[in-house]
Amino acid sequence: MKAIEILNDEHRIIEQGLGVLENVTRRVVEGEPMPPGKLEELLDFFANYADKIHHGKEERLLVPQMEDRCGGRYLCPHNELLDRMEQEHKEGRALIARMGETWTRLPKEPRAKDEFVAASRNYTHMLRGHIRMEEEDLFPEMENLLSDYDRSLTEAYERQEREEIGEGVPEKYHRTVEELAKELSGG
Ligand SMILES: [Fe+2]
Ligand SMILES: [Fe+2]
Repeated sequence: MKAIEILNDEHRIIEQGLGVLENVTRRVVEGEPMPPGKLEELLDFFANYADKIHHGKEERLLVPQMEDRCGGRYLCPHNELLDRMEQEHKEGRALIARMGETWTRLPKEPRAKDEFVAASRNYTHMLRGHIRMEEEDLFPEMENLLSDYDRSLTEAYERQEREEIGEGVPEKYHRTVEELAKELSGG
């Protein structure tokens, strides 16, 4: 499989998680109870799968190859998209923390409900736009530049999963999001 296809496949899993988050947010707005522990599981999916595993591949493996190929970041065409990508990954991290923090205050503080809903809508909107930007603008550019490097990049992705993340961990998150989608859909 090509390196960019691996990233695109991970986007589909992340979008599934965003669909679950939209459902959870609707439940919170409507005051429907949530099964205990499920929001925490979903936030763990975003922190580990979307951020550590997926954004880790983009930031620590894809970007350095691009920079190497161009002879420096600011010699890459559309290098502003690389800056935007990293900036949005940071915003995503802050919003995951904000969702977790407001969620723990929610049972006692009515105000925390609006804050949670704002953070969650912000995250969903930002990450959907982020994925669109990568797939429509950034990745096609990268694919042209990195065609000779594709094999070594794919191998680096496989090594990341084996050595840093752990064998079977990404698949565990695929199952988590599937189960959460079943448990929390509709309501
Ligand atoms: Fe990204
Ligand atoms: Fe991505």
